[in-house]
Amino acid sequence: MMKSSRNKRAHWLLRIVLLVPLAVSVGCRKAPKEGEAEKVIFGMSQCNLAEPWRVQMNDDIRKQADTYPEIKLLEKDAQNDVTVQQSQVREFLTQGIDLLIVSPKETVPMTAPVKEVYDSGIPVVVLDREIQGTSFTCFIGGDNVLIGREAGKHIASLLNGKGNLVELMGLMTSQPGVDRHEGFLQGLKEYAQEHGTPPDGIKIIFSADCQWLEENGRREMSSALARFDEIDAVYAHNDPQAHGAYLAAKAEGRGREKTIKFIGIDALPQEGVTYVKQGVLTATFQYPTGGKEAIDIGMKILGGEQVPKWITLGTRLFTKENVDEGGLEIPAKGPKRPGLKPDKPRPSKKLKKPIKKQVARLAAQ
Ligand code: FRU
Repeated sequence: MMKSSRNKRAHWLLRIVLLVPLAVSVGCRKAPKEGEAEKVIFGMSQCNLAEPWRVQMNDDIRKQADTYPEIKLLEKDAQNDVTVQQSQVREFLTQGIDLLIVSPKETVPMTAPVKEVYDSGIPVVVLDREIQGTSFTCFIGGDNVLIGREAGKHIASLLNGKGNLVELMGLMTSQPGVDRHEGFLQGLKEYAQEHGTPPDGIKIIFSADCQWLEENGRREMSSALARFDEIDAVYAHNDPQAHGAYLAAKAEGRGREKTIKFIGIDALPQEGVTYVKQGVLTATFQYPTGGKEAIDIGMKILGGEQVPKWITLGTRLFTKENVDEGGLEIPAKGPKRPGLKPDKPRPSKKLKKPIKKQVARLAAQ
């Protein structure tokens, strides 16, 4: 008898010891009040925040996320290291996110971790740089082939189809670099065909992979300047590299920064657009960040809507003639990978009525 009551006491003690911490931890998670929706957690994996364009992307994401009180945003910055980005994406898997937004550093190494998240049932929105395969819910980005082609035609027309050109490429293991180069060659070819100028009238006399970085653009341009007396234009795959090239020409001290035409891509108001206003760049093409769209699409996905698998954003050309009017719009031509089937709807149970209404309102826009 004595023994059994001692056993009972021990049993209850054990239960208390085990259950109290559990109750506390559940309490910390702050259960939503009656009628209140639980927050949906968006994980955002950014490959690098040392470049103005990516800072802008995160700002756009944060600003739009703030318009939905139901979103909790977790951000990670991989500081331009793809192995760090791989582990950060995998880390999100253990943090209970409801949706992943990822702007990958490189196509091939980021394909597997993104697929792991997607295969675990978490919807994934990929921004700007592509991954391989179809293991994502929605890709949102600008059309880099279109931008490259427009840049090719624009430069060819500035040079009347003839001249020496330096191409400062972006990171060529990321898809935008490849597409901006291929589109550019197409643009040069199209110009020559349309205007009857020689197909090799514009010669790419120097090219280098500058990995999207201004300091590399500057260094490579110094080499180009040292080797070639006649350079008519620089096609840089982004504005930081174009600016680096301009600085190299200025530092050379022969006044060539005034005769060479510098063309870039990104067109952030505080960066490329300002350079065009100052006469530093001859032209820049807008590369939209897709940050705002990622949040809206993410909410639609969690609200149970079917979204397209591929969303292409348009661009704008800024030159000194049109910069004060906000540039010239060049609309998107459609998805780069047409015919991809949209995923089946996967509504989140956390979203209660008011959000569904909000998402429906967005969908109707
Ligand atoms: C920033 C950036 C932009 C460029 C984009 C391409 O990391 O280099 O300047 O347009 O990435 O993915």
